[in-house]
Amino acid sequence: MTVKIIDGKKIASQFFDKIKAEVSVMKNKPGIAIVKVGNDPASEIYINNKLKKAAELGFYVERFNLDEKSTLGEILKVVDKLNQNNKIHGFIVQLPLPTHIDEKLIMGGILPQKDVDGFTPLSMGNLAIGNNLMIPATAKGCLELIKSTGQKISGKNAVIVGRSNIVGKPLALLLLQENATVTICHSKTRNLVKYTQNADILVAAVGKSKLITADMVKKGSIVIDVGINKVGSKIIGDVDFENVKDVAGYITPVPGGVGPMTIAMLLENTLKASKLPRSHY
Ligand code: GUN
Repeated sequence: MTVKIIDGKKIASQFFDKIKAEVSVMKNKPGIAIVKVGNDPASEIYINNKLKKAAELGFYVERFNLDEKSTLGEILKVVDKLNQNNKIHGFIVQLPLPTHIDEKLIMGGILPQKDVDGFTPLSMGNLAIGNNLMIPATAKGCLELIKSTGQKISGKNAVIVGRSNIVGKPLALLLLQENATVTICHSKTRNLVKYTQNADILVAAVGKSKLITADMVKKGSIVIDVGINKVGSKIIGDVDFENVKDVAGYITPVPGGVGPMTIAMLLENTLKASKLPRSHY
């Protein structure tokens, strides 16, 4: 069986086309804002990509750059202004935040109906009980890529390597909703290979370049690579693509896999937020 490359760029572009068509006939354009705190170079690229695509699709966009040394109170003040800004239907505070800031306190300050990241306690709690109002973008993007293969998810063994609030945990909940048997592995997992070898669906979301090698992958499986690791001047995933592609049935490339889907899902969430009546919350 030859491997099928899952073309995230192409699948995302189908979402972009649909969003653009819908926005083009809206009188009040959906508004999105992104808050950046500090100078993380990767965040800078992600934010530029997100806002560039948003503007391209006809969204109203705003951007806030806060100093690395900003206090919790200063950041929450910006969050609160955005909560009250009628032109902004959804906004995100880009992570990671500087280490002196408690991320949970920032997420807790975002109005749930504007939480297009799906990271607030209410959104995460809703997802856990199957009330999918705002689903974290990268997790939703991974699910869409898995679905794009046309393979049945129900009853399959899904193994997620990485337990982050951004990807691992929400994706585990989504795959559970799809009736997969879900295992979450992480840095303290003993004998990782024992789990990954049994995975019909394997998702790597840890941020370690080429952590997943060919011997760890089940033949014919679906392999989703969330990793974006800068190695020299190259971007490398968490999966050793060149070798794993000879074993897997389906695999996402890096770049051009999960990345474009994160942007598509974020903008889909923002469009949704712009149409949601407040009574939903
Ligand atoms: N950092 C990496 N991915 C994300 C994301 O999806 N949202 C936010 N806010 N920060 C991130």
